[in-house]
Amino acid sequence: MSGEPGSIRIENIVKRFGTFEAVKGISLEVKPGETFGLLGPNGAGKSTLIRMMTTLIPITSGKAWIDGHDVDAEPDAVRRCMGVIPRPSPATSTSPSRRTSPSTPSSTACPGPSAGAASTSCWRRWT
Ligand SMILES: Nc1ncnc2c1ncn2[C@@H]1O[C@H](COP(=O)(O)OP(=O)(O)OP(=O)(O)O)[C@@H](O)[C@H]1O
Ligand SMILES: [Mg+2]
Repeated sequence: MSGEPGSIRIENIVKRFGTFEAVKGISLEVKPGETFGLLGPNGAGKSTLIRMMTTLIPITSGKAWIDGHDVDAEPDAVRRCMGVIPRPSPATSTSPSRRTSPSTPSSTACPGPSAGAASTSCWRRWT
């Protein structure tokens, strides 16, 4: 059974990197209008699950639908109906997000007494 329009549906989704199982059979449904938060300890597999759901990496097994579209079979349709804001990094941040997220990798990569100035310097190197 596929997900209904406006919903997210995941059935027993698994991700293996070689023999290592990073996502171990997750099933869930987010119905239209619901707000859903994915929480877990470091290394639990949250980012890996999101990467699969956003079509960035293949699903090892299981099925997923977003807005009724099969993530594996209809990746273009899935990409058209979602927006993703990844954690900012020097290579992917935009200027507004850097301003609103002072604790970005660009600033942590440039420690020192003048973190703000160093961050700006890093930022300029990447843009
Ligand atoms: N490309 C990869 N190759 C091998 N192992 C990977 C790969 N990506 C993630 N992993 C492993 O899969 C597990 C889940 O990683 P993931 O990044 O999804 O966790 P997370 O829940 O997002 O953690 P965090 O809260 O630290 O962001 C970790 O053990 C990680 O080392
Ligand atoms: Mg993560």
